[in-house]
Amino acid sequence: MQAIRPFEVLFDHAEPSPLADEAYAPYGNFGFPSPPAERPWIYSNFVQSLDGITTLLGEHGSGGEISQSREDRWLMDLLRAHADAILTGMHTLLEEQRLRGPSSRGIVFQVADPKLRELRQRLGKGRERNIFVTRAVNLDLSQFKVFDGDVVDAAIVTSPAGAARLRAQSSHPHVAIVAGGDGETLDLPAAIGKLRGELGVEYLLCEGGPTLYGTLARADLVDEKFMTVSPVEVGQLVPPEQARIAGEPSPLLRPTVFGGPGFTRENMTRWTWLSGRKAGDHQFNRYRRKRV
Ligand SMILES: NC(=O)c1ccc[n+]([C@@H]2O[C@H](COP(=O)([O-])OP(=O)(O)OC[C@H]3O[C@@H](n4cnc5c(N)ncnc54)[C@H](OP(=O)(O)O)[C@@H]3O)[C@@H](O)[C@H]2O)c1
Repeated sequence: MQAIRPFEVLFDHAEPSPLADEAYAPYGNFGFPSPPAERPWIYSNFVQSLDGITTLLGEHGSGGEISQSREDRWLMDLLRAHADAILTGMHTLLEEQRLRGPSSRGIVFQVADPKLRELRQRLGKGRERNIFVTRAVNLDLSQFKVFDGDVVDAAIVTSPAGAARLRAQSSHPHVAIVAGGDGETLDLPAAIGKLRGELGVEYLLCEGGPTLYGTLARADLVDEKFMTVSPVEVGQLVPPEQARIAGEPSPLLRPTVFGGPGFTRENMTRWTWLSGRKAGDHQFNRYRRKRV
């Protein structure tokens, strides 16, 4: 892996790092508060363009195409090293699979940097875990590498009806199924609470996409946001010169971090800007939810 530039710390008001450890050297201070009793501490990580866009869509739809930063990739690993599990919407997994070509069985979300894998061990974290949110209407677990169970533990958050369909597959008993809601309706807050009780998840990293993030944010379940701002401007409407993939509607809008219904002036949420760093022309910001 190519070396990263050290982050320039503009300011940092977060808790001290849990260990005095050389692995923190490029970033500096990195700590969290204790998790709440009834659910995990939930922190998200996104990269966006200067104009707030998270994906170009189409053939270059991955967040990495917006980021184009080794430091951002490294920070993703630092955040993963502190997480008991990574939570992702099913469409992000499907997109990562599509971008890898028709024979791909998709991606496994894990810490790539060896020094940060070692840090994770020293932090006493268990095996890495990927959790996907889906209604599981037509999900064949064998199509995805991540559910094989050989690299990370995998789990699915779904509706009770989705859970029944997945259990009926019986081919993946090692994939934990966590259900919340009623029938086909997934109650995400209820299911997230169970991640603490049933799987022991204290720190949960939400890596998107926007649909999942929007649901969590509307339920006021996001405690912190790590937000990389990449020094690129892309615009919201997909331009006519961008190659289209099959089935894309026209006109097509690129999403911001927050998918689905948002807030009104009365109930929009407020955040404390907890830390700011830069590496080259990229900003690395951390925000914490202000609830009082
Ligand atoms: N820039 C970044 O940092 C970043 C990060 C992540 C993703 N992305 C990009 O964002 C795009 C994907 O985002 P997305 O918003 O389309 O999809 P997404 O949030 O990854 O996944 C949406 C899917 O997750 C399930 N889901 C999420 N919330 C749910 C809820 N409350 N109730 C029931 N099911 C729920 C549903 O799956 P089912 O349809 O299976 O039921 C839904 O279709 C990709 O292009 C990806 O590359 C960018």
